[in-house]
Amino acid sequence: MRSIQEQGDLKIEQIVEEAVAPLKEKIHDLEQSVSQKYPPVKFLSEKDRKRILITGGAGFVGSHLTDKLMMDGHEVTVVDNFFTGRKRNVEHWIGHENFELINHDVVEPLYIEVDQIYHLASPASPPNYMYNPIKTLKTNTIGTLNMLGLAKRVGARLLLASTSEIYGDPEVHPQSEDYWGHVNPIGPRACYDEGKRVAETMCYAYMKQEGVEVRVARIFNTFGSRMHMNDGRVVSNFILQALQGEPLTVRMTRVCLLCSDLVNGLVLLMNSNISSPVNLGNPEEHTILEFARLIKSLVVSHSQIQFLAEAQDDPQRRRPDIRKAKMLLGWEPVVPLEEGLNKTIQYFSRELEHQANNQYIPKPKAARMKKGRPRHN
Ligand SMILES: NC(=O)c1ccc[n+]([C@@H]2O[C@H](COP(=O)([O-])OP(=O)(O)OC[C@H]3O[C@@H](n4cnc5c(N)ncnc54)[C@H](O)[C@@H]3O)[C@@H](O)[C@H]2O)c1
Repeated sequence: MRSIQEQGDLKIEQIVEEAVAPLKEKIHDLEQSVSQKYPPVKFLSEKDRKRILITGGAGFVGSHLTDKLMMDGHEVTVVDNFFTGRKRNVEHWIGHENFELINHDVVEPLYIEVDQIYHLASPASPPNYMYNPIKTLKTNTIGTLNMLGLAKRVGARLLLASTSEIYGDPEVHPQSEDYWGHVNPIGPRACYDEGKRVAETMCYAYMKQEGVEVRVARIFNTFGSRMHMNDGRVVSNFILQALQGEPLTVRMTRVCLLCSDLVNGLVLLMNSNISSPVNLGNPEEHTILEFARLIKSLVVSHSQIQFLAEAQDDPQRRRPDIRKAKMLLGWEPVVPLEEGLNKTIQYFSRELEHQANNQYIPKPKAARMKKGRPRHN
């Protein structure tokens, strides 16, 4: 016969077991989902595995680059201040043993051991880089100096994500890497254009004076999933407008490259021995009207097409000469435009649905100068 004390203990044990059982089940489910949640990652031996820093890695291009380098089996550290980037873009890697996410502003120095640095940190679309021009300048100048200083200290190779904007409103077509550009140094786009131009200058000063290995990619307009919904760029504007049945507002001509093609070009360039600047873009030229019509038909939208006044200093035409990338890297865009647009349209539809649930549907905004005190400095 059990004592009252023993019977009481047994009852407590039973209650505890009953309470713990569902928790055990949840832990088991969580363990299962954690071990299965990452995209497949190649195994690389210690000798081939690199420690790679991506500044701006939570942004549009940076997050796709993160995916590629992670899946290739490298150790990736993403540094981002989340000005235009989002944790959501890289959340699928959080917790992976090869991945680290650091909330850091590149304007502040960073001490970390790496073999390669992809330096992408900078707002890239006009409304974002014009939002706080001084901060854009600091990011591209002090931020680049900090990353070059880091590259020098740890002996890492640095790839700068430069831009076709360094050609300004070009007087020659297409633009090859030896064209010096036509930039208004005091216009509204100068914080970005001149910021990137001086960032290139800094790279070559560090290369010549300190022996730092540098790579410079001059990137032309790129599109794809994880683009910002309201960044005012051609493809995102048109897709959003078409999906929401609003007029497609047409301004200038642009050529566009799909992000997966760009990411392949960046990795090829980083691992090449070409230290001079290389254009990465799609030389296939479409008028903006052709673009608007194509997106309208892919979305099956009844939106009207409206013509707007030009923005100040907005280049009329820009088209890359990619002979250098073709010859020296064996690189050229391979994804057909329609295929890339269809994928991007699907992404934007999902985003609209997601945001509608939060009762927030962003509308494309025209670039504007911010008044008053900057929030982001
Ligand atoms: N997307 C394009 O069409 C294009 C064209 C030419 C050049 N580029 C260059 O490629 C790079 C990436 O562009 P994107 O389109 O992915 O832009 P994006 O705005 O999506 O990404 C930039 C990232 O940098 C981060 N960032 C900005 N300032 C920072 C700072 N001070 N410290 C740390 N992180 C900071 C942002 O939060 C964001 O995650 C940029 O350098 C841009 O100039 C892009």
